[in-house]
Amino acid sequence: MSTLPHLTLLTTGGTIAGQAASSADTTGYTAGALDPSALIAAVPGLGELAQLQCDSLLSIDSKDMCPAHWLTLLARVQHHLARPDCDGVVITHGTDTLEETAWFLHLCLPPGKPVVLTAAMRPASALSADGPMNLYQAVAVAAHAASANQGVLVVVNGHIFAGADIVKTDTQALDAIDAPARGPLGAAQPVQFYHPAALTQAGCVPADALAGQTELPRVDILYVAAGSDPDLLAAAIERGAKGIVLALPGNGSLPANWQCAADAARARAIAVIRSTRVAHGRVAHATDTMLPAASGALNPAKARIALMLALAAGTPELSARLFA
Ligand code: SIN
Repeated sequence: MSTLPHLTLLTTGGTIAGQAASSADTTGYTAGALDPSALIAAVPGLGELAQLQCDSLLSIDSKDMCPAHWLTLLARVQHHLARPDCDGVVITHGTDTLEETAWFLHLCLPPGKPVVLTAAMRPASALSADGPMNLYQAVAVAAHAASANQGVLVVVNGHIFAGADIVKTDTQALDAIDAPARGPLGAAQPVQFYHPAALTQAGCVPADALAGQTELPRVDILYVAAGSDPDLLAAAIERGAKGIVLALPGNGSLPANWQCAADAARARAIAVIRSTRVAHGRVAHATDTMLPAASGALNPAKARIALMLALAAGTPELSARLFA
């Protein structure tokens, strides 16, 4: 009788399952074209790491991932984690919105059995495709005892990252996924954690806040360039936004001519968050109470998800924790 851990491989699409007409083509391909059995067949030795059960959930390019998909994925992951015969879940995903899905799952899943996302920059059909090694290492990490209670993890390019920390930092390079603020949590081969994950926000969204939900409240991101028109804010609200994240210059600096629009949003009880266009650094919390709240460490995409979840859960305590 095998003593290998039982893992569920949940597939959602992405370049890791991508197929091009030519093995030299790394940009013109169809993401999510391959089914899980083809992914597994490309990785000799997987069966020595774990007993895998496949669940083919989506076959999409992650640019098309929507909040409704996150909720569906969350429900599937919760379903598998609740099974006594499932020891962990590995999720294949596209790199383009990997940071959003990883952050969403990190906030919604209390630490416990390993949940590991992986992805690839080159399609499965490419010479030197990176997907097979990434999948092998993701399974190795999910099968490892040290990966329990670390929150949602991301394994790519030989690194173990905290799902909450990652961003995509390059459009085409193989090492496009990084954790600029905190670095990797560990190495994927052999599996070694350098330090534990920061878990203060892991699973902080109460499960009952999302139970039965098929959508999240609409939150729009507005990119504020020099001279951008503040009427964009009112336009987003007219189109149905329940919250707005501003990708602002510098330390979340609101241009003077946007203050009036921000005040009008506040008067309509529309939450506005000041995030930043800058790649690194926090937006500091301000003492000026007329300024919209700061995003703290969250970039615009992550602040948007945090605000969606705060609006869905409806508790000020959660907002404070999310934007700490
Ligand atoms: C995608 O995000 O689905 C396509 C791009 C990629 O996976 O690298």
